[in-house]
Amino acid sequence: MISKTYRRILVGCTILIGHSSLGEAQSVPVYLDESKPVEQRIEDALARMTLDEKIAVIHAQSKFSSPGVKRLGFPDLWTDDGPHGVRPDVLWDEWVQAGQTNDSCVAFPALTCLAATWNPQMARLYGESLGEEALYRKKSVILGPGVNIYRTPLGGRNFEYMGEDPLLASRMVVPYVQGLQSKGVAACVKHYALNNDEEYRHQVNVVVSDRALHEIYLPAFKAAVTEGGAWAIMGAYNLYRNQHNCHNSILLNKILKQDWGFDGVVISDWGGCHDTDEAVTNGLDLEFGTWTDGLTMGRTNAYDSYHLAEAYKQAIREGRYTTKELDEKVRRVLRLFYRTTMRREKPFGFLCSESHYDAALRIAQEGIVLLKNGRVAKAGGKRETAPLLPLDLSKKKRILVVGENAIKMMTVGGGSSSLKVQREILPLDAIQARCSKFKAQCSYARGYVGDTIQSYDGVTVGRSLYEARSAEELRTEAVVKAKEADVVIFFGGLNKSDYQDSEGHDRRQYGLPYGQDELLEALLAVNKHIVYVNISGNAVAMPWLNKVPAVVQGWFIGSEAGEALASVLMGDVNPSGKLPFTWYQRLEDCGAHALNTYPGTWRDDHQVIDETYKEGVYVGYRWTDKQKVRPLFAFGHGLSYTTFKFGKLTADRQRLTADEQITFTVSVTNTGRRAGSETVQLYIADKKASVDRPVKELKAFQKVFLQPGETTDVKLTIGRDALSFYDEDTQAWKAEPGEFEALVGSASDRLPAKYIFRLE
Ligand code: BGC
Repeated sequence: MISKTYRRILVGCTILIGHSSLGEAQSVPVYLDESKPVEQRIEDALARMTLDEKIAVIHAQSKFSSPGVKRLGFPDLWTDDGPHGVRPDVLWDEWVQAGQTNDSCVAFPALTCLAATWNPQMARLYGESLGEEALYRKKSVILGPGVNIYRTPLGGRNFEYMGEDPLLASRMVVPYVQGLQSKGVAACVKHYALNNDEEYRHQVNVVVSDRALHEIYLPAFKAAVTEGGAWAIMGAYNLYRNQHNCHNSILLNKILKQDWGFDGVVISDWGGCHDTDEAVTNGLDLEFGTWTDGLTMGRTNAYDSYHLAEAYKQAIREGRYTTKELDEKVRRVLRLFYRTTMRREKPFGFLCSESHYDAALRIAQEGIVLLKNGRVAKAGGKRETAPLLPLDLSKKKRILVVGENAIKMMTVGGGSSSLKVQREILPLDAIQARCSKFKAQCSYARGYVGDTIQSYDGVTVGRSLYEARSAEELRTEAVVKAKEADVVIFFGGLNKSDYQDSEGHDRRQYGLPYGQDELLEALLAVNKHIVYVNISGNAVAMPWLNKVPAVVQGWFIGSEAGEALASVLMGDVNPSGKLPFTWYQRLEDCGAHALNTYPGTWRDDHQVIDETYKEGVYVGYRWTDKQKVRPLFAFGHGLSYTTFKFGKLTADRQRLTADEQITFTVSVTNTGRRAGSETVQLYIADKKASVDRPVKELKAFQKVFLQPGETTDVKLTIGRDALSFYDEDTQAWKAEPGEFEALVGSASDRLPAKYIFRLE
């Protein structure tokens, strides 16, 4: 119900905007009347809008905003990156920082880390916290989350995505979207679709089978839309079937809007719209970031030259189009307004609250993956040694921290996800703080220089990375100090510079950059007690792995990075992250590279590069399973400071019909001495099918927390969907009767509990 006072304000507004005469203005116009269904309000608003107003709301007016309809009281729509925190404001027309004093945010862990929690509740917390930060900053659309599949470890933007598995990414994206939108802030899920690597992202034409498209690359987008109810989606830069994805008739009109019933707004990636006719007819609703051509690129106020601006208006005036397509786009934009800017019951936003730091910390701690703890090579084979982690500072008194990534801010750089944070706790600072608490000594040696970039888009890093010493001097210093240390903690990996984990390009090598392998070997020669913490969003080669007793995957984890890492290394937190992708030994162990599909083949005119996904559905563990290749670390792998035992797998039935579900039960016991979490993973193997199917596929999972000695029964339910494949002949999902096997365990390569059942 609308209150009396409020009604008076609205009626006043009606008079002002002149839609009723003074005498008649007792009722609220439908488009403003909150008691009326939104669809009715949309139609009413649409009917009142002029052609100019309609054209205005479907393209940008600044780098990150598009206009509302001032005359009717619709405010401007402000978008912002995304996906790990709310990006600082840039100038109206430039990428340069606006220099605001109220836009320092909390950086949440990068989405690879979120996926590594395997905990949908963390995704919900992430979305809600980010939504609150966005509200404070008056942003109505957050450009994220990203759910492109991790297809090659060279992918420059993998850190912004949720790994290689469609089910894991689906289960994690839904609560992120719902959490964000529960605050009245739209998620703009990106980059739809097939933007699986960055090099030549504007020219890549992806050639992929329908089966791989539907089984691997689309499910997370579909879940975000059909289950998460995403209000916006961003078209990707690349092409599919020779059409740019920001105006791709199959992806947008057919699959997204028709098949999935998407009622939100398709927003072009910044500069991803190339053609008025295609944009009009192929499903784009809101154009952003276009560099129209040489004439307007970089020029200010070029927005009239957007493909969906003057050119479109002109085409309508000349009768080349009716307003049918335009009205449909405007309807969607108005719907977005009602969901966001026009939504009055939005909660208040707040920035940098303790609750947001706490959320960032918890997500980071749950996502850190303990890859290895306590096995080293010995002459004649491997041998177990006592686990090196967690570090007991009451016993280990001389700690040496080595590596640039211990002192480098990772929230700055990497492209559009770069942030301006209120604080970022660096690993070295957090470790030093703990050492001083325990009266342990902590020294530091940089060891190598990666890059010394001090700022990104005008945001300057907090600690200078300037270094005058030579590589030789740095290495010698580290080696000398390592001789004296009880333990060496090496913070290495990648960073957010170009050709590392960064937008716009891919990595050029699988190996660690900046001579880190050589440095590690030199350190190992004088000290065997090395913990290697890898900071990255991607897997890297680890030729020294057999010699290093403890390895931790530390991701890019935002504001609380150092604190989260220190708490895991020192054992305040028991690690429970699991890899969201396969960690290959060699690049050639990845299907895309084994089949030489990357980066593709340039056409003769050098305008388009065709990248054929020859590996089909065999991405990640689906490929290594098929090829019987052992990865360095399997998908779903992640250790703990405690141990877990799985009991026998049972099910509530042995046969099921097409519309029935089957529930599996397995007991999990914490057999160690510490409380900890385990993620129970269920994979399904189709024993015999009319098409070639992966050896097994993840179909359900659940994370459980157990006290020492505690046992719990974990139940995992699946239905026919989990048994289906995408049938290219009928263009539909199909589950074939026959025998299936359920495999349950703690990683894709550790599935001790098995159960055979039949689909009738
Ligand atoms: C990126 C998007 C981003 C947009 C706006 C583009 O270059 O691909 O992910 O949201 O810029 O910053």
